Amino acid sequence: MRPLSDKESLLGRDVADVPSPFAQRAVRHVVGTIILAVLASAVVVAAANRCRGACDPVACAAALYLVVLYCLQVKFQEWPEFDARVSLLLFSALALFAGPAALELLLGRPCMFPSWWPWVAGLSCAAVSVCAWRVMVRGPCPTVAPGSMKGRVSIVTGCNTGIGYETAQALAEADGTVIFACRSEDKARAAIARMMEDSRAAGKELSKDQLLFLPLDLASLESVRGFVDAVDRSGLEVHLLILNAGVMLGSRSVTKDGLEGTLAANHFGHFLLALLLLPKLQEAE
Ligand SMILES: NC(=O)c1ccc[n+]([C@@H]2O[C@H](COP(=O)([O-])OP(=O)(O)OC[C@H]3O[C@@H](n4cnc5c(N)ncnc54)[C@H](OP(=O)(O)O)[C@@H]3O)[C@@H](O)[C@H]2O)c1
Repeated sequence: MRPLSDKESLLGRDVADVPSPFAQRAVRHVVGTIILAVLASAVVVAAANRCRGACDPVACAAALYLVVLYCLQVKFQEWPEFDARVSLLLFSALALFAGPAALELLLGRPCMFPSWWPWVAGLSCAAVSVCAWRVMVRGPCPTVAPGSMKGRVSIVTGCNTGIGYETAQALAEADGTVIFACRSEDKARAAIARMMEDSRAAGKELSKDQLLFLPLDLASLESVRGFVDAVDRSGLEVHLLILNAGVMLGSRSVTKDGLEGTLAANHFGHFLLALLLLPKLQEAE
C-alpha cells in the first residue's frame, strides 16, 4: 500500500484503500448507463404498446418522468453515490411498469393482468418518485453519529445562518465544540442563542462552552490572519474545518486587498484560511 500524502492524512481516513476517483466514476457511469438503458427500453416498450392500442398511461408517464429526471441529474453531475436500495426500487418498479407491456410484445398477443396490477404499479410509481426525489434531487443527507464529535473542535465559516447553521448544530449535537467563524458578532451570538434553544427544544442540551465565536471576515486577508492568530491563542486544537460561508454580490466591488469582492470572500479568503490552518489540522490528527 502506498504511503499517505499530507492531503490524504488530513482527511482523517485511509483514502489509499478507497477506489480512485476514476474507478468510482467508471462504476457510476456503468450503473447509470444500465439504468438509463432500462428506462429507455421501458419508454420504447410503453410507446410500442401504445401504437398497438394497449397503452398503459401510468407506465408511459412514470418511465418518461424517470428518464427526464435521470438525464437532468447526469447533466448537472449530481448523480449520487451508488445506492443499492434506490436501484432495487427503481428496477422493481420499472419491471412492474414495463413487464406487462414487454410480455405482450414477446407473446405477440394482449395479456390479461390481475385487477390489482394497476394499484401495485401506481404505488410503485409513487415510491420511486419519492425515492428518486430524496436521493437524486434532494441529495444525500449525511448525519453526524451521536457522541462522535466528543473532544473534537470544528470551525464552520458563516454558520450564523443557512447550511452553516445546520452543520454547526449537527456537530454540536454530536457533542463537538464549534467555532462560529462569522463576520458579524451580533448575528453569531444570536445564532448561538437560537441554537441552544432549538437543541433544548429537541431534547439535546448544549453547553455554552461548545459554541464559541471568533470574528472572521473572509473578504479581508488581514481578518483571516487575525482569526488564525485568535484560534492559536485559544489553545484549542482544530479537527475539522468547514469552508461554508459564501456570498454572491450583485455588483462589482473591490476589497482593500485589491481583489474582486465575491472572489475575495468565496475563494481567496477561504484559501488563505485553509492554508494557515493546515498545520493545526495535521497536528490534531
Ligand atoms: N443554498 C443553496 O442552494 C446553495 C447552493 C450552492 C452552493 N451554496 C453555497 O453553500 C454555502 C452556504 O449557503 P447558504 O444558502 O447557507 O448561504 P447563506 O444563508 O447566504 O449564508 C452565507 C453565510 O456566509 C456568510 N458570509 C458571507 N460573506 C462572508 C464574509 N465575507 N466573511 C464571513 N462570512 C461571510 C454570511 O454571513 P452574514 O449573515 O453576515 O451575511 C452567512 O453566514 C455558500 O457558500 C453558498 O454559496 C448554497
